[in-house]
Amino acid sequence: MLLQNAGPFLIFAPLLASAAPSCSLKPPRSAAVSASSGIQSGGAANGSDVVASAWYPGWVDFTASSISWDKYNAMTFAFGLTTSDVNTIEVGNNATLPEFVSAAKDHGVAALLSIGGWTGSQYFSPAVATPDSRTAFVNTVLGLVKQYDLDGIDFDWEYPGRKDLGMTCNQVNSADSANFLLFLQELRKTDVGKNLTLTAAVGLTPFSDGTAPMTDVSQFAAVLDRIAIMSYDIWGQFSATAGPNAPLDDSCAPTKAGSATSAVKAWTSAKFPANQITLGVAAYGHSFNVTSTAAKAGSNSLALYPAFEKAPMATTVDSCGGTESVDDTIPFADLISKGFLNSNGTAADGMLSVFDSCSQTPFVYNPQSGLLVSYDDATSFAAKGKFINDQGLGGFAVWESTGDKDDILLDSLHQAMGIQPDCS
Ligand SMILES: *[C@@H]1O[C@H](CO)[C@@H](O)[C@H](O)[C@H]1NC(C)=O
Ligand SMILES: *[C@@H]1O[C@H](CO)[C@@H](O)[C@H](O)[C@H]1NC(C)=O
Ligand SMILES: *[C@@H]1O[C@H](CO)[C@@H](O)[C@H](O)[C@H]1NC(C)=O
Ligand SMILES: *[C@@H]1O[C@H](CO)[C@@H](O)[C@H](O)[C@H]1NC(C)=O
Ligand SMILES: *[C@@H]1O[C@H](CO)[C@@H](O)[C@H](O)[C@H]1NC(C)=O
Repeated sequence: MLLQNAGPFLIFAPLLASAAPSCSLKPPRSAAVSASSGIQSGGAANGSDVVASAWYPGWVDFTASSISWDKYNAMTFAFGLTTSDVNTIEVGNNATLPEFVSAAKDHGVAALLSIGGWTGSQYFSPAVATPDSRTAFVNTVLGLVKQYDLDGIDFDWEYPGRKDLGMTCNQVNSADSANFLLFLQELRKTDVGKNLTLTAAVGLTPFSDGTAPMTDVSQFAAVLDRIAIMSYDIWGQFSATAGPNAPLDDSCAPTKAGSATSAVKAWTSAKFPANQITLGVAAYGHSFNVTSTAAKAGSNSLALYPAFEKAPMATTVDSCGGTESVDDTIPFADLISKGFLNSNGTAADGMLSVFDSCSQTPFVYNPQSGLLVSYDDATSFAAKGKFINDQGLGGFAVWESTGDKDDILLDSLHQAMGIQPDCS
């Protein structure tokens, strides 16, 4: 299928059709899926683009050459933080953002800013609560778009209407999701808003109505170009036992904590179109201190859900004044530099490892340090790529772009999805 309206996006050709004279951004799919594909709302992306995106961690020194721009068509800078003043969004590392935007544009990649995140979602609720505050917040967002010449905005509100999730001092209102929708509709109606790519990073279940996940989120799909389902951090220090960071499936797991599969089902059942969903994928793992007795299953294999010692509390406090566990996440590249994995991403000599066939993710254990890590490797990324195609999803979003320095995971995902840069 020829794409005449690829906008600023790079054009990818399907691997299997590389001899064809036309260019397409979509990997090969069934006719049924292709026919129904299409981002219907006002965003920049024509429905036939596959979304190859990642978040850039703004707190990391920016070096344009560290990003494989030709393997992405959108890059999202994290984060702009909500503040108690609806007229102000604090852009962390605001000196870096202009450099980021110009590098993205130089490479034909859409530059987005993500507003919110774990620490930046405190004041979304009051910002969208009233007609006046919504108009003010729309203008604040549009001000950032103009100031930084952004192609789009990602809303990473963690989480509308949920008192049980997110930072403890986040403001929460049972009308959050309804108000969020009104805000997005107002933003989309503006002249500048019509042309923006608008995305949201979301949890495993649809936006909450204050008591339960909404059963119909189709109105969000009419104003957002797409959502990215953050299908990771599903097991961590808060869990009863160690477990997979980013399970592809959990229907076969002893404890069903959610997965990419359950999340896509939940969102599509609530009428969010599959082709406007990107799968959030993790270029990192979660680590757990596990005794060797608990870790081992048999002489040479690993237990999948062993007991672990809770990480010590960090000395730093979060924005709510609470202490948090030490950061137990490890970027994929650090698993290599710390000796868990070989430079090609396979488990190193002396480590115990297992690939969990249910979550379709690997675990690696260092018997010396007693650290167990559940993470993603090339094999699990390939499984996720196949899932994205099989489900007719819109593409992927990697958290985060610096975690996979040699593109071991990214290349595996591209290959599994049949994406290949071409026609550039
Ligand atoms: C995408 O672009 C193609 C080619 O211009 C067009 O035929 C198709 O209708 C567009 N799809 C959507 C959903 O806009
Ligand atoms: C950047 O952020 C700092 C600290 O929040 C702020 O003082 C400064 O005004 C900001 N600069 C710009 C250009 O927004
Ligand atoms: C939006 O995009 C259209 C088509 O590219 C363009 O003509 C128009 O000027 C844009 N509007 C704004 C406000 O940027
Ligand atoms: C593991 O234990 C060590 C030693 O107590 C500690 O420094 C480290 O933070 C722990 N890590 C995790 C992820 O629990
Ligand atoms: C990865 O590297 C290790 C150590 O160098 C090597 O033994 C193994 O064969 C390599 N695996 C692949 C798939 O290249």
